Amino acid sequence: MDTNRLFEHFFSLYGKPEDKPRVFFAPGRVNLIGEHTDYNGGYVLPCAIQYGTYLLIRPVSAGFVSFASTNFENQYKIAIKDLSVKVNGAWVNYPLGVIDQFRQMNIEVAGYEMLYSGDIPNGAGLSSSASIEMVTAFALKSLLNVSDLSMLDLVKLSQRAENQFIGVSCGIMDQFAVGMGAKDHALFLNCETLEYETIPVLLTGYSLIIANTNKARGLSGSKYNERVAECQQALADLHPLIPASNLGEIGFMKFFKIQDQIVDERIRRRARHVISENQRVLNAVSSLKRGDLGQFGALMNASHESLRDNYEVTGFELDTLVEEAWKINGVTGARMTGAGFGGCTVNLVRKEAVNGFIEKVGAAYFEKTGIRATFYIAEVSDGVKEI
Ligand code: GLA
Repeated sequence: MDTNRLFEHFFSLYGKPEDKPRVFFAPGRVNLIGEHTDYNGGYVLPCAIQYGTYLLIRPVSAGFVSFASTNFENQYKIAIKDLSVKVNGAWVNYPLGVIDQFRQMNIEVAGYEMLYSGDIPNGAGLSSSASIEMVTAFALKSLLNVSDLSMLDLVKLSQRAENQFIGVSCGIMDQFAVGMGAKDHALFLNCETLEYETIPVLLTGYSLIIANTNKARGLSGSKYNERVAECQQALADLHPLIPASNLGEIGFMKFFKIQDQIVDERIRRRARHVISENQRVLNAVSSLKRGDLGQFGALMNASHESLRDNYEVTGFELDTLVEEAWKINGVTGARMTGAGFGGCTVNLVRKEAVNGFIEKVGAAYFEKTGIRATFYIAEVSDGVKEI
């Protein structure tokens, strides 16, 4: 990203080039394995990637905050007193949700001029929203000098912004990965205790390829919240036999014995996914530590099958992109990543097979769906920072 062009853009909007804004950057994330486990108190293994959101921000003495983005046309100039009012269907609700959280903690924001610029494809399941939230939270903390807010506090308040202001009952994985990301490391996080370990992602001989179905994925008010509710239903059904406070607490062997307690077959499959996926994360971490990428890839494949058959969050485009990937020699693992219902897949591909992979999978996917997929080589990167 050329920050000089961002400065020019900023000054063309707000003037006063002698008064330079501060520049912050928050990455997006790709989840390697552990899907739909976070809001069930389970394990996840995401990492931050090189794509993300820049924020140029400058305090102004006027009583309003100006929001602009290089990605969206609409600009907003909102009086400080109106900052907690949601704007209809607009990108600006992500920063507003974060500002609202600061205000709920009685931290009053001042006037600002802001310019956002992101290179994460929108709606691709790579956490463009968590990236906008975290870059806003980190910048506000820095500008307001609130030293007693830790990175984990920023992660939690950004998640609350998404839950309360946007209305998506998401877990903590995305904001956590964007905040805590570490170069060349995945984050092995227990979403119940928030204990975590950074695990080196040593991809000797392999590349991590993100493939975008380019089928837009709507999260808000969608099937996502339905899945959250289904997991709660499973927990309630199991409660007489096992009074767990979330599905992540239940081991797979135990679940196997008591699963018939869940009357509805569909709800039983939802729980089966969460509980088996949790075990897959643990196995994946051991294989990564052993450098056994073959085993890691097999777990990715099993994760996709479970998301497809048990959790039913894949759909034709994601399944096609993954199934075409599985056919290619040199692909060790492929699965959907993120919430599903469209968005991206993540693929572990031998370096010498990458070009062929992109060409063949792209062509077959286009033939079957009529959509062109886009491919990115992921670089595992650091979390949010000031530039
Ligand atoms: C979205 C949510 C996350 C997580 C994933 C699925 O990205 O924001 O909290 O639930 O879906 O694993």
